[in-house]
Amino acid sequence: MPRVRFEPDGIEIEVKLGTTILQAAEQAGAQLGSACGGVCACATCHVYVSEGMDGLSEIDECEEDNLDKAFDVRRNSRLACQACLQSEGRTVVSISRASRQTFFDEHPEVRER
Ligand code: FES
Repeated sequence: MPRVRFEPDGIEIEVKLGTTILQAAEQAGAQLGSACGGVCACATCHVYVSEGMDGLSEIDECEEDNLDKAFDVRRNSRLACQACLQSEGRTVVSISRASRQTFFDEHPEVRER
C-alpha cells in the first residue's frame, strides 16, 4: 500500500492505491486546506512533494491552470486533490503555508500543531 508522510506534522498513513493526497490527509488528520472541496477549482490544497513524485498521477491541464494561482510554486508543487498515489512506496509532502492557513480558516476550532 502507498504510504504518505505529511510535513511539518510528521503524520504518516497507509492508503489504498488511487487515493489522492487530499484524501490521505483527511484520513490522517493532517492540516491541509481544501476550499473548493477537492474539485480543482482553487489552489488551497497546494503541497510540495519531496519524495515519491514519480509514483503520482500526471499533472493535467486543470491542475496546471490552478497551480498558476498558488503562491511560491516550485518544481515539486502539486495540488493535493488532483495528485493520486499510483504506486506502492513512500511519498513525503510538505503542506504549503497558504494551505495550512486555509485549513485553520476552515476549522477555527482546531489549533495548530
Ligand atoms: S481543494 Fe481546491 S484545487 Fe484542490
